[in-house]
Amino acid sequence: MDKILVHGGSRLKGQVMVSGSKNSALPILAATLLTKEECVIHNVPDLSDCHYMLQILNHLGAQVERASGTVTIKAEKIVTEAPYDIVRKMRASVCIIGPLLGREKEATVSLPGGCVIGERPIDLHLKGFEALGAAVRIDAGNVKVLAPNLRGTTINLRGKFGPTVLGTDNILMASVLAEGTTVIDGAAAEPEVVDLANFLIAMGAKIEGAGTRRIIVEGVKELHGAEHEVIPDRIEAGTYLVAGAIAGDEVTLRNVVPEHLHSVTEALIKSGFRIVTGTDQLTIFGNGKAGPLKIVTEPYPGFPTDMQAQMCALLTKGQGISILTETIFPQRFMHVPELKRMGANIEMEGPSAVVQGVERLSGAPVMASDLRASAALVLAGLHSEGTTEIHRVYHIDRGYESIDDKLNALGANIERVKEKSGA
Ligand code: UD1
Repeated sequence: MDKILVHGGSRLKGQVMVSGSKNSALPILAATLLTKEECVIHNVPDLSDCHYMLQILNHLGAQVERASGTVTIKAEKIVTEAPYDIVRKMRASVCIIGPLLGREKEATVSLPGGCVIGERPIDLHLKGFEALGAAVRIDAGNVKVLAPNLRGTTINLRGKFGPTVLGTDNILMASVLAEGTTVIDGAAAEPEVVDLANFLIAMGAKIEGAGTRRIIVEGVKELHGAEHEVIPDRIEAGTYLVAGAIAGDEVTLRNVVPEHLHSVTEALIKSGFRIVTGTDQLTIFGNGKAGPLKIVTEPYPGFPTDMQAQMCALLTKGQGISILTETIFPQRFMHVPELKRMGANIEMEGPSAVVQGVERLSGAPVMASDLRASAALVLAGLHSEGTTEIHRVYHIDRGYESIDDKLNALGANIERVKEKSGA
């Protein structure tokens, strides 16, 4: 297992190329199961989560070839069962249920467990499948979904924490081959849902309203192969923007859709940073300390929960008192105890972290607990004195393509070393 050592205090300057979006790529790769024909997907990030998804597709019978960022998939003949061993490594593997159900009218997939950011149920996905006419059964840790006839209907997917992103993806993928019209109310409007819809449309699906709270799908008989380029990863981009705010003299992100980052750039500007927006690039000037912010995570276009931990890392050494409130995953604050070990002054009040900016942070051994919390620890290390030693970095490799190399290319001083056994 690797650990990452961040030697704090370097200044960052230069350009960083943003990779393809993990949260777009995963459902898009799953959607290739909807056709027997070949699909070619470009800009697939080289991440462990994407490798897991390709392994799952391979297990289901698809032929998968990968050359750099391009993946070619042909799922001519597939099976409909994905056991625990295959899906347990990644919660997002749940999004194979929709395409299996759409194409083969059945799926048996091991249920995802909870994870450190909360319980993460899939009740809304199952409610959607049932509304489309599927029988859903939980048996021996598996969810079995069976629907000899999938029929379009109106489904409200809104849950108590707002819309569900993968739930919307799943119902969308099941409904494109259903009979008649499906209306998904309370749909997630994230750019990743739009990207999936665009890929499905390229495959011959009839979808309107992706990117709004109401998506309308007119079922078609079959889908064909298609070629698609995954959108840039707005969360990876947001993470490098925060790195630029923390330690950047001038950092330019290339290959971004600035509109997708609006709530993040707005918050950073409010905090006192200068950002220059180009057509597909953003430049941040990181001189000075972050001003205090009140951030509330919300579904898109609101401030993303996936950026909350990174902003927390910035604000720990900011001015005054900042408050970060989670409305989507109220327990998503595993970074807080680790940041406190580095000298941060943070108090939890229910689903809010109250951050009193401190003058100095000091590097310490810390534990990565989930993807975005790990990114926050790397960022905190950039403005800490001494060395921050981050263990369990496999979390970070799930969602960031070579974060150490990309930050080092900007001038950071980060090492990746093998843990000694027993460490
Ligand atoms: C996706 C993203 C993740 C992001 C999250 C919220 C992927 C691979 N992951 O996760 O990075 O943090 O959106 O933007 O795209 N919920 C239910 N019942 C359900 C489904 C969800 O109650 O059936 C709840 C969840 O517990 C959570 C909220 O709804 O409180 C939103 O979750 P959801 O949008 O489904 O997250 P994911 O799609 O799993």
